[in-house]
Amino acid sequence: MADSQRHPFLHGLSKHRGAPPTVVVIFGASGDLTARKLIPAVYNLGADNLLPAEFFLIGYGRKDIPDEEFRQLAGDAIREFSRREPDQDVWDRIAAHTTYVAGGYDDAEAFKRLAAHIDDIERKLGREVQSLFYISTPPSVFAPILRNLGAAGLARRHFDGPLHARVVIEKPFGRDLASARELNHTIRAVFEEHQVYRIDHYLGKETVQDLLVQRFANAIFEPLWNRNYIESVQITVAEDVGVGTRGGYYEQSGALRDMIQNHTMQLLALTAMEPPVSLDAEAIRDEKVKLLQAIQPLRLGPDGDVARAQYAAGMVGGKAVPGFLEEEGIAADSNTETFAALRLSINNWRWQGVPFYLRSGKRMARRVSEIAINFRRPPGTLFAAGAKFDLAGNTLAFQIQPDEGLSLILNAKIPGLETRTQPVKMSFRYATTFGSNTPEAYERLVLDAMIGDGTLFIRGDEAETSWKLCTPILESWAEAGRAGMDSYAAGSWGPPASEALPARHGHHWRQP
Ligand SMILES: NC(=O)c1ccc[n+]([C@@H]2O[C@H](COP(=O)([O-])OP(=O)(O)OC[C@H]3O[C@@H](n4cnc5c(N)ncnc54)[C@H](OP(=O)(O)O)[C@@H]3O)[C@@H](O)[C@H]2O)c1
Repeated sequence: MADSQRHPFLHGLSKHRGAPPTVVVIFGASGDLTARKLIPAVYNLGADNLLPAEFFLIGYGRKDIPDEEFRQLAGDAIREFSRREPDQDVWDRIAAHTTYVAGGYDDAEAFKRLAAHIDDIERKLGREVQSLFYISTPPSVFAPILRNLGAAGLARRHFDGPLHARVVIEKPFGRDLASARELNHTIRAVFEEHQVYRIDHYLGKETVQDLLVQRFANAIFEPLWNRNYIESVQITVAEDVGVGTRGGYYEQSGALRDMIQNHTMQLLALTAMEPPVSLDAEAIRDEKVKLLQAIQPLRLGPDGDVARAQYAAGMVGGKAVPGFLEEEGIAADSNTETFAALRLSINNWRWQGVPFYLRSGKRMARRVSEIAINFRRPPGTLFAAGAKFDLAGNTLAFQIQPDEGLSLILNAKIPGLETRTQPVKMSFRYATTFGSNTPEAYERLVLDAMIGDGTLFIRGDEAETSWKLCTPILESWAEAGRAGMDSYAAGSWGPPASEALPARHGHHWRQP
């Protein structure tokens, strides 16, 4: 059985204390992600008794940081970013096995020192340890790290035994199809696919995992989940923030690369895929790839299936904010999009003729990520829309963030002697039902990578299939320069070009 199939999705968690001794090595350990997410995730797994009894954490980076200082930095990160008040005993236990190795990402000798450091841990422990290498650096050094892990023999440690060496790779996974293929090529020269965990942290969110439970653990949805009952599907990943101080980074990225190619495509795949034969990682990922492969090539150019725009000055949260082109680090003639929308057709039995609308942008009316399933309207023989009957289509919306939950819009009779109707919303909120102290996405993902469950990670062919769809859009935009770039006021729901995509089918965007 493949490594990534051993621990099926929705596994019970109690067994992980008994997991073999494990060392987690974080590359880019002095970075922002390490402090805000990874160290707090490790801490909270420790607090929940989900780390192996013998657990070792090694930070790696170019800065020369003594062990004690790294432990101090990690402790500070936990105090600042952990979702719960730190318990000193829990952190002391982890800190006692936390060390730091200084070295360059392209320095083969430094990787030999890292290997020797892990050998040393094993010698002192008197047992072999399995390893998880977490690459949390800018993508420019993903390849040298991978190559050096291979050259130092770290990728194949204990390869034939019961222990494992695994690697987690942060996003972005390439910036187009060619670079994603090249990165996959570099990975495969060193690791087997089942050792590789490509992160899309959206998949670690509770609501995203709940999407599978809602779809396949309830009998009422699946019979309706097709073109006979569903009119359209809308996926929105909206941020209210602008580029802030990250203008330089964003200028090289844009909404399509930053959000659509990964997060929204993943949400689409989970929403629309066929039921997998089991909850094994490979079964689910096979279905996601099949779905992505069934998406028809997009029509580009004017009146096509894509829209892009940049935010102009506007009001957000009652405050005046500048337009994208006035932001620090952004060229006055930048053709980087801060908003992208797509209209997709899926050419299979289930979805033929059902438009899927995807959009993502910065500086939008509010921060929200949701998947909205719009059902067909009933025939108007009894209740025709008019003054007495205010009728809405039924919409099932999965809200992924913030305020995670699920809502269903129904039409109901307004109490009274006259028969009048009004749309009403039935809502389920995670925080209300289960309390708000749910694990963060990174806790789930670090744990799953540690125990070898690849369900919530992206397989190499998935990443390439998604890039295959998005790369022609990027190429056509690069060729067009600023021609066709629309704009929208900061604090709005996007540009007219985006409204035009659903309008062609008589639809309009929801305002979630
Ligand atoms: N921050 C987030 O919220 C977030 C969210 C999702 C994904 N990610 C992804 O996670 C990865 C890490 O993000 P981050 O925000 O932590 O990055 P970061 O703070 O910019 O960089 C992490 C570490 O990498 C090293 N580094 C920085 N620039 C480098 C360069 N040009 N060449 C070589 N090494 C360099 C630095 O450590 P040393 O100088 O000590 O070597 C730095 O502390 C990125 O791939 C990012 O796209 C981040």
